Amino acid sequence: NRSWAEPYKIKMVEPLKMTTESERQAAIVEAGYNTFLLPSEDVYIDLLTDSGCGAMSDRQWAGMMAGDEAYAGSANFYKMRDAVEEYYSYKYTVPTHQGRGAENILSQILIADGNYVPGNMYFTTTRLHQELAGATFVDVIVDEAHDPASDYPFKGNVDIAKLEALAKEVGADKIPYVCIATCVNMAGGQPISMANLKEVRAWCDANNVLLVHDMTRVAENAFFIQQREDGYRDKSIREIVYELCDLTDAATMSSKKDALVNIGGFLAMNDDSIYEKACNLVVVYEGLHTYGGMAGRDMEALAIGITESVQDDHISARVGQVEYLGNKLKMMGVPIVNPIGGHAVFLDARAILPHIPQDQFPAQALAAALYVDAGVRVMERGAVSAGRSKETGENFMPKLELVRLTLPRRVYTQAHMDVVAESVERVMKQASEIKGLKFTYEPEYLRFFRGKFEPV
Ligand code: F0G
Repeated sequence: NRSWAEPYKIKMVEPLKMTTESERQAAIVEAGYNTFLLPSEDVYIDLLTDSGCGAMSDRQWAGMMAGDEAYAGSANFYKMRDAVEEYYSYKYTVPTHQGRGAENILSQILIADGNYVPGNMYFTTTRLHQELAGATFVDVIVDEAHDPASDYPFKGNVDIAKLEALAKEVGADKIPYVCIATCVNMAGGQPISMANLKEVRAWCDANNVLLVHDMTRVAENAFFIQQREDGYRDKSIREIVYELCDLTDAATMSSKKDALVNIGGFLAMNDDSIYEKACNLVVVYEGLHTYGGMAGRDMEALAIGITESVQDDHISARVGQVEYLGNKLKMMGVPIVNPIGGHAVFLDARAILPHIPQDQFPAQALAAALYVDAGVRVMERGAVSAGRSKETGENFMPKLELVRLTLPRRVYTQAHMDVVAESVERVMKQASEIKGLKFTYEPEYLRFFRGKFEPV
């Protein structure tokens, strides 16, 4: 059993401010018990998200100097477009400022009022854009995905029977597309298998429905396929990523994750009429169709980031670090979502705080307590994130009430992971002292970002 280490070395460092527990206690009260409202200066280890906070390589930084900041037809756009086609298969690329910009445009193009969009669980911004465009989201993920204890290796899979039942109930003509995420974020960073994606493809073909891919974490999904699925052990991450993308018709991408840049995204597709419509809308919401809200230098860094993101060494170290933290927590007896995900370890807040009912937001309370203990910032992924039903206005009460410890790519060391695990263990020992929370301010959209709370 050989040790692994990162396939890079550190060339530049960013010093961190150390705080005391009483400073952190004051900071969390000021932030209304919402870790999104903490100034990052007051955070020691930031595991809030893996979005836009990864470390770029020296190659990417060098690329930043080669930015062609022309309004139209930037050389960096063509390089990025070519990288998308070469690595991700899609013929047309429309840049956007980030993933949700692409989701907005795609939802407006494909969705008509009264439509239904099935997906393998939801993502917050994705579902909201579908709803704003007039659709109802329907979860068609396998049941195992809702059970944090299940060891099922492909919890991102679609239950074809659920898809079939929806089509029977509302008619396939009311389903403009099936929305598939690779490495499903809200399920705990869980992959979809290639075999299942092929089945979904066949279902879409048989029912004349498009297949749209949220490819935000496609390389991490490819890694799990390589490790777990028959026939893929000897395929490269690059080959598996291409094959996944090639099974789908269009994609939305938040390149702030897998693709190793601090900002950016795109919409990609093979159909020229969808491309034409996307170009029409991107100029309204984002920018010209050859920059879509991105600087030339950012498109250059993205083109390079795409090539780095599909390297086998990179992705096995990346997911390996998540596994290291997850296994350490498991050994300490911390209840986490199984199997360990690709981008994050998810704590089961219900199991850690059984005395707090779900309508007092146990995961939100646990995230706040973790910050106070050691300055580790994490995020809630439970009832606060799930929001309210569009129809009834009632709070959704999702089966998964989780706290996400999300690892930025190429940023923290193994020693940081040890500090995090010890902090979780300490907080768990004092769990009975943690109190539930209630809203003091609830924003209308995506309330988890800016909501404020106080203890009940
Ligand atoms: N799809 C998935 C699966 C995501 O995880 C995200 C962002 C988006 C779409 C939206 O992309 O942020 O670039 O507009 N997830 C971040 C997170 C915010 O922390 O999980 P965006």
